[in-house]
Amino acid sequence: MKLRTVRDFDPRGQKVLLRADLNVPLANGRVADDGRIRAVVPTLRLLLERGARVAVLSHLGRPDGRVVGELRMAPVAVRLGELLGRGVPALRDCVGGEVGRAVDALPSGGAVVLENVRFHAGEEENDPGFARELAAPFDAFVNDAFATAHRAHASTVGVARLLPSYAGLLMEREVEVLSGVRDRPRRPYYVLVGGKKAKDKLGVLTDLLPKVDGFLVGGGVAFTFLVAQGHSVGKSVVDSSLVGALRELLGKAEERGTTILLPEDVVVARELAAGVETRVVPASAIPEGWMGLDIGPATVGRFSEAVAGAGTVVWAGPLGAFEIPPFGAGTAAVARALVGSGAFTVVGGGETGEAVEKLGLADKFGYVSTGGGATLDFLRGEPMPALEVLGRS
Ligand code: 3PG
Repeated sequence: MKLRTVRDFDPRGQKVLLRADLNVPLANGRVADDGRIRAVVPTLRLLLERGARVAVLSHLGRPDGRVVGELRMAPVAVRLGELLGRGVPALRDCVGGEVGRAVDALPSGGAVVLENVRFHAGEEENDPGFARELAAPFDAFVNDAFATAHRAHASTVGVARLLPSYAGLLMEREVEVLSGVRDRPRRPYYVLVGGKKAKDKLGVLTDLLPKVDGFLVGGGVAFTFLVAQGHSVGKSVVDSSLVGALRELLGKAEERGTTILLPEDVVVARELAAGVETRVVPASAIPEGWMGLDIGPATVGRFSEAVAGAGTVVWAGPLGAFEIPPFGAGTAAVARALVGSGAFTVVGGGETGEAVEKLGLADKFGYVSTGGGATLDFLRGEPMPALEVLGRS
């Protein structure tokens, strides 16, 4: 799909609404991972250098249409200001008179950050009246929020229908790289999945099955797979509502000859806490009262071997509870195997991006996408409503 981009218009003196995905983790009132903020800086700088007056708009968390004090954008504005090397004021709302006045008062090359757009119920409902309120103070709309491009919300789709609209540089790059993986992956093409939410991954795996040469499954998701294979998994986290569907998926994969590699061994503990007693056990023999919290060394070896021979690997979801030592060893070892392989390696945002950043390996991957759910939806060929409205006619 050809997108109208920020390079296709002259923003001098224009009041521009820039939708970014600045949905970043916060800890003690500060930004804990600024990857998504850094990713939007090139577009913002381009607009400012060309003399636009910019209001940056994002959601943060899932406040469900209410004002939630801990989800205000102020800490994000502080970090954005540090990255730009100048202060960027944060407004207390994203619609209304205060926004109009603040934007009118901006000099060319000036910027503000608007308040969390999900404080308004009209955002997720894609309410046309709310979209009109968002658009009212502006001359143009730039969308750089790839990580939210799978959502048809007022700030991603509604405003794009009301203002001259363009994709930002990050949006353009994400679409270019991920289209290559979706349409022309170098083979063999493997998807490495982990993370906790088996439910979110099921649809993704089902849709990707005909497109990939194999899945490598670790993390919390793997335990529901192991149950589907008939193993008992002790206290490990399992989504029993998915067992039937996963059994079906395993059957389909076998019919097609698509590899699904599950853990052969796992690191178990009685509870998820730092420094507790751990054991490595076969994945088929997790003792009662113990829970699987990481992939074991034999699995690391097997996964590493698979990725060494791959053409493309997309990785979404950590392979263990990586934030709590010692359950990060599997994620770290496979991350190293990935960067040492000859494969084109793509990391799908969120926690996985954070993990590779913490390991100091982010710049060694072929591409680190800012999207989590959006990246997987894009790769499985789901409609991306926020992109469709930016397409050239
Ligand atoms: C994400 O973190 O994946 C995006 O910011 C989208 O957030 P959402 O899943 O709450 O819509």
